[in-house]
Amino acid sequence: MFSPQGPTLRELAVQALSSVDRGYDLLAPKFDQTPFRTPDRFLDAVGDALRPLGPFDAGLDVCCGTGAGARPLRPLCRRITGVDFSAGMLAEARDRAGDAEPAPHWVRADVRALPFTGAFDLAVSFGAFGHFLPAERPGLFAQVHRCLRPGGLFAFPVAAPPPVGSALYWALAGFDAGMRVRNAVWRPPFVMYYRTFPLPAVAKDLARTGFDVTTLPLEEFGRRDDGSPRCRLVLARRA
Ligand SMILES: C[S@@+](CC[C@H](N)C(=O)[O-])C[C@H]1O[C@@H](n2cnc3c(N)ncnc32)[C@H](O)[C@@H]1O
Repeated sequence: MFSPQGPTLRELAVQALSSVDRGYDLLAPKFDQTPFRTPDRFLDAVGDALRPLGPFDAGLDVCCGTGAGARPLRPLCRRITGVDFSAGMLAEARDRAGDAEPAPHWVRADVRALPFTGAFDLAVSFGAFGHFLPAERPGLFAQVHRCLRPGGLFAFPVAAPPPVGSALYWALAGFDAGMRVRNAVWRPPFVMYYRTFPLPAVAKDLARTGFDVTTLPLEEFGRRDDGSPRCRLVLARRA
């Protein structure tokens, strides 16, 4: 899973014993060599699915990390903003963005209190929802809703849960159980769970926030045995 350029086990352990923002500050220089950075294949699939719905004026990447979301946003938006609360991740994002146009505007903020109102036509987010407890979800969605202009779109991919009893099912369940133990005995907490973002509950919270919710299958990732897509793009439009 980790390349030789990635973090050592010790570095990962120190990160996991920190708060979320401090943990990402520590991981930032090596983050792109970890499996936690959203792979280009996902980013491109989302970009392709959004293209017919654009172009957009201003795009926001929520929890932008080292800037992965700029890849799909660049061809779609005239202006791009990435927001994250880790100064270390934002520094890497700035370094890695190079000269590509449009140059993103990087903003340090906790996305549970976003400093924008009616500023964006499109918001995306990749690989970050595990950092929010289910009880925080409505508040987070309300923040994104407020950042969007009327008619604006909040889009993010959601993978189908692995089949019960599969190796991945047990791996994710084991990770979440380990995190619960860690958070019961250690401060500060590091909130990161894989199984706290089920699509039906997420869609309900989005609808309650005032979004019209649809989903698109991302066919690149195939279908499960029951015919349902392995990965969907959630499209939540500010009514
Ligand atoms: C797994 S990384 C994903 C980064 C990037 N979106 C990607 O796909 O590669 C999660 C990111 O969420 C950020 N994050 C977590 N909770 C946050 C919060 N409450 N406010 C702002 N950023 C947050 C972390 O700092 C980290 O950069």
